[in-house]
Amino acid sequence: MDNDVYYLNNGYPMPKIGLGVYKITNDEMEIAVHSALEAGYRAFDTAYFYGNEQALGNALRNSDIDREDLFITSKLWNDFQGYENTKAYFYKTLENLGTDYLDLYLIHWPCEADGLFIESYRAMEELYDEGKIRAIGVCNFEQHHLETLMKETKIVPAVNQIEVHPYFDQHELQAYCDEKDIAVTAWMPLMRNKGLLDHPTIVNIAKEYNKTPAQIVLRWHLAHNRLVIPKSKTPSRIEENYNILDFNLELTDIAEIDSLNKNQRQGNNPDKVHIGSLK
Ligand SMILES: NC(=O)c1ccc[n+]([C@@H]2O[C@H](COP(=O)([O-])OP(=O)(O)OC[C@H]3O[C@@H](n4cnc5c(N)ncnc54)[C@H](OP(=O)(O)O)[C@@H]3O)[C@@H](O)[C@H]2O)c1
Repeated sequence: MDNDVYYLNNGYPMPKIGLGVYKITNDEMEIAVHSALEAGYRAFDTAYFYGNEQALGNALRNSDIDREDLFITSKLWNDFQGYENTKAYFYKTLENLGTDYLDLYLIHWPCEADGLFIESYRAMEELYDEGKIRAIGVCNFEQHHLETLMKETKIVPAVNQIEVHPYFDQHELQAYCDEKDIAVTAWMPLMRNKGLLDHPTIVNIAKEYNKTPAQIVLRWHLAHNRLVIPKSKTPSRIEENYNILDFNLELTDIAEIDSLNKNQRQGNNPDKVHIGSLK
């Protein structure tokens, strides 16, 4: 099973492939979660902001998988940064999910200009020390945010969840995280299926390996020491996205996909997001 698992910097195992549930509606959740569990997923990535923690928690509780065999990630929303709020909204997230601990809790965006991410993280460190969270980390932190955070706090983040795909490979931030033993999880790993999966390079490599374009892109992420949380509400795609552990890409194919990089972000720039700017 080790092939499926990434050992975080505190030794806690995190499945390399999880289901991202951003935009999965409450009505779609039951089928998506059921399909994912059938396919072999045990990790699920949600956030308070997604408004579907309750639906995810219900669907997981309706399954016959024990809580300790699941890996549940959620995130502290921007509007609730600050020491007291972090604790209050962490417990709200636990209540929504119907669980008494999280496997991973992340700060959703640094919102550096608001000056609250350090005290938010300190609250998370206390929750971690109390055993309420198995690992803590961040999302959308650039190197300078990580440097500030690590200067002011005790626990090196276990994870930095960032936008990465072949058009935006984040190689410098990845190298920095690798050096500090911070696991990188790619959000938007498939570039939301907007013009990447039909790129001729990806399509040709997929044909060579008898795999789908999505499987090739996801395998490329794993080859770069990243975890992935592809989102799909479609049972056949959910299964397809999980079935990527039975092959390896040749170095030349990895390099060919690397060459597609355009340093082109699709999502928000972390230096421009502040409290209240995202709805
Ligand atoms: N920390 C952050 O700030 C942040 C930001 C964004 C996302 N995230 C997390 O990252 C997860 C994934 O990112 P994302 O949802 O933005 O984008 P994504 O996973 O790159 O793409 C999802 C889109 O791709 C389609 N898709 C999935 N598998 C496919 C396949 N095998 N073939 C063709 N199309 C496929 C899905 O369609 P269907 O659903 O219709 O099948 C959906 O439209 C999110 O769900 C969320 O958990 C985190």
